[in-house]
Amino acid sequence: MYYSDEIIEEVRSRNDIVDVIGSYVNLKRKGNSHSACCPFHHEKTPSFHVSREKQMYHCFGCGVGGNVFTFLMEHENFTFPEAMEALAERAGYDLPKQEMSANEKKQADTRTRIKDMNKLAAGYFHYLLKTDHGAIALQYLKDRGLSDDTITKFGLGFSDVYRDDLYKYLKNKGYKDEDLNDSGLVKFDEKYGFSDRFWNRVMFPIIDTNNRVIGFGGRVLGDAKPKYINTQDTLVFDKSRNLYGLNLAKKSKRQGIIFCEGYMDVISMHQAGFDNAVASLGTALTVGQVNLIKRFTDRAYLAYDSDEAGTKAALRALEIMREFEMPARVISLKPYKDPDELIQAEGVDELEKRINEAKSGTMFEIDILAHNYNQEDPQERTQFQKEAAKRLALITDPMERKNYIDSVAKHYDIEKDSLKEAVTQYGIAGGTKVDTSVFRERNRKSPEEEKEQQQLKTERLLISWMINEPILFEILQDTIQPDDFFEPVYHDVVKQLYEQYHREKKVIPAAIMNHYQSKEEHEKVSMIMQQDFEIPVAQSEKSKVVTDLVKTIKLRSIEHQMEMQKGDLTKQSELIIEKVRIEKMKPIIIQGSV
Ligand code: CTP
Ligand code: MN
Repeated sequence: MYYSDEIIEEVRSRNDIVDVIGSYVNLKRKGNSHSACCPFHHEKTPSFHVSREKQMYHCFGCGVGGNVFTFLMEHENFTFPEAMEALAERAGYDLPKQEMSANEKKQADTRTRIKDMNKLAAGYFHYLLKTDHGAIALQYLKDRGLSDDTITKFGLGFSDVYRDDLYKYLKNKGYKDEDLNDSGLVKFDEKYGFSDRFWNRVMFPIIDTNNRVIGFGGRVLGDAKPKYINTQDTLVFDKSRNLYGLNLAKKSKRQGIIFCEGYMDVISMHQAGFDNAVASLGTALTVGQVNLIKRFTDRAYLAYDSDEAGTKAALRALEIMREFEMPARVISLKPYKDPDELIQAEGVDELEKRINEAKSGTMFEIDILAHNYNQEDPQERTQFQKEAAKRLALITDPMERKNYIDSVAKHYDIEKDSLKEAVTQYGIAGGTKVDTSVFRERNRKSPEEEKEQQQLKTERLLISWMINEPILFEILQDTIQPDDFFEPVYHDVVKQLYEQYHREKKVIPAAIMNHYQSKEEHEKVSMIMQQDFEIPVAQSEKSKVVTDLVKTIKLRSIEHQMEMQKGDLTKQSELIIEKVRIEKMKPIIIQGSV
């Protein structure tokens, strides 16, 4: 089973390393780091560290380390696919059943390209804000009370007044029209050709929890309409599965996550110290977003606008929170319209007070209900009480339900027993189930592998074989060298594995992980360990598989060298001899290992 980088990353990011390791060892928190006595070697003082920020672990005592996959592979003795399966299941994520096709590979490349373009665009917008061109926009932000720090923290920017300024900038960086089209940063018109999606706007880069710029919101400087334009959905921008500010909020030390309606609210909240604020991306709250924050918190606050639209949105959001069992409270902002206004008018302490006094979602809903009925009219009052009972019947926890019945009875002056009876009558609905199919991967097409992908796969497979049958490092040392591997990271890994093998007479994949800092490399390395190949029982078959892999890689490498050193006749003849040797190579017999 082969999983795309993206799926590996999806599964990895849905499993917080601190939670996973915390379920095996007793982690003690010290600042940003969590530590324990190392589960991989005997020690009395803790030198085993887990970093939530880096999503890595490392033992300064014995040197083991890696990511969440590595941990399970080491601790449970899982293969990579087994670790994938266990972690996917833990996160309630359905793994696709088919291989990555050429088409999917192409999509993956496009995604990478879009993220690169977005990053460049964000940098450019931010740069413009600080130039004469962006002076008005900068002034606008300052007038709204934002500090330089805040502007930098959120990477705010300005899109210039020309209609193809960014288009030209990115073209200059070497991107093609079709790339730009994929990014959603430009639009195409038969008559006018390409133009920027955003111009003359304050730019808010939208950054995901992996710190990648996935899209933008752009606000007009004045009162023109539309007030905001957002990136349309692209291969990397899914409005329903991301939240503005979550990249920062996930690191907050404050309790819970505060949902606001607007970008400006989030920024204003963060500046005031409420760095756990997030906002939807120009749409109502979605199930995907609630699911997303479940990884970071067990409590939500709603700081939605206090007008009718905001209240409606809050009620809908509470429904989703309930369906996903996320406890939620509602912050009252009245008489102010939104958090930004409240902070400007009353300051930090007042907001803090409002957060502490936030009503539970249930009480908020019943409150709204109460206002919808004329409490003086017996018929309407009865109707209200019935509706309230229906709402209370949705509470699944018996003790919680009882407490709410008590509170509501008291607060609205309803006879407790009759309310209780009504609640029982409406039954414990258990909540309507939300359609969770949105989280499942779309159906994958059948594999039709591209040459390059095949090549990388061959390289990966051979490395996996070598890791599984370390004796191969001995057998192959005169045949396969790191230079025979095209992919730079694989080249590196093979080099390190050889060194490790010669030093320690064994290979420790997790230790290799420690040589990589960037996540990209890390994922690539962990991917090598995830090849699931049925290890043939018969020696002859094993031998055939490995020999074929070696031949394929080596012959391609020789071809490549011949191509590169065309003029060098001595080298050419050496390579021809080598080529013949490989072609005639006897099957490799793997002995001395299981
Ligand atoms: N929004 C949008 N398109 C619009 C208007 C609003 O996508 N035409 C989204 C934006 O994400 C915006 C949010 O809805 O942040 C809330 O809108 P609003 O309260 O009008 O904006 P604020 O962020 O509060 O902006 P400001 O304070 O500058 O008015
Ligand atoms: Mn506002």
